[in-house]
Amino acid sequence: MNEAQFNHPEAVTRGWYWLCRSDEIRRGRVKALRLLGRDLAVYRGEDGRVHALDAYCAHMGAHLAEGRVEGNSLRCFFHHWRYTAEGRCDDIPCLAATPPPGARVRRWPVAEKHGLVWLWTGAEAAHEVPEAPELAGQDCRMLLVSRFRKNCHPNVVLINAIDEQHFRSVHRLPGEILSMQPLPRDQANIEFHNTGKLPRSHWLGRLLGRFYKDALTYRLSYWYGSCGFVTLGPDFLHCHILFALRRGDDGETEGQTIALTRRRKGLSGWIADKLILWTTAAIGWYFANGDTRVFQTIRFNLRTPIGADRAVLAFIRHYEQQPLAEWNDEADDARPRRHMRGVSGKSA
Ligand code: FES
Ligand SMILES: [Fe+2]
Repeated sequence: MNEAQFNHPEAVTRGWYWLCRSDEIRRGRVKALRLLGRDLAVYRGEDGRVHALDAYCAHMGAHLAEGRVEGNSLRCFFHHWRYTAEGRCDDIPCLAATPPPGARVRRWPVAEKHGLVWLWTGAEAAHEVPEAPELAGQDCRMLLVSRFRKNCHPNVVLINAIDEQHFRSVHRLPGEILSMQPLPRDQANIEFHNTGKLPRSHWLGRLLGRFYKDALTYRLSYWYGSCGFVTLGPDFLHCHILFALRRGDDGETEGQTIALTRRRKGLSGWIADKLILWTTAAIGWYFANGDTRVFQTIRFNLRTPIGADRAVLAFIRHYEQQPLAEWNDEADDARPRRHMRGVSGKSA
């Protein structure tokens, strides 16, 4: 297959991408971070809100994470230009007048959710950070499980969870127990629901039949090809796992697993929440670490799709029609210039 965006080493689609854990950005502190090939200065203002600016100062290109947080603004270390959270320079100490219009750096919309800081790769976020479908709008408790790396593109990591065939071959699930039905929700979101049959002739099917009315609950909600919620578990208790993924500089996947549950009341609720989160974390860990070997060496190329690859093909098609982000267009602004332009009078 020949895709323009799917599994592409540089394409960045518009959406929310995880940047770091919330507790890594302390109030009044700034941190240098890199996301999808772009350098950023990420800081938490005195009001507790996180902001992300392109890293290099509009004056001479100093990295703004060398500077310091002042109120809700960021002051460059070098000549003390001050930038607002919108990326506009509003103070140059040796200049009494207003700073020139070009004195600005790009700011990116940022939000905190599920224990992480997220960045939207466009001018204005089109919607909120995604939630697990069954937990939308609810007060939740979460547990940051683990960070992981895979030697392949995040799109390919997501493929794994909807790859029906490998559940039979690698994980030895019997018969037609998994059959993933693609359900596109909107341009950025697609769900996959299991509609398979519990094989009553198999001991595992009979055992699972006690806990599931119909099909085994196994649902996925994918966003932007980089973020996936998994819902699974018996009818009386669903577990929710978030896999937040992004592409690293070498084209590999940097992932973070998070267990989520609805917040229950009282001490017994707190204990129940903890038990559910730990159980979910164990499942999430198994998911994130299963099949690891194949992801160290795979060169994903679905050259010979068959009927059982239906969900995989649906995801690839879905991802292909997502809008690209305004991310790489201005990548130069986020990198230091190697040479000064125009100083010698010659064109650069
Ligand atoms: S390089 Fe930032 S103020 Fe000069
Ligand atoms: Fe697997």
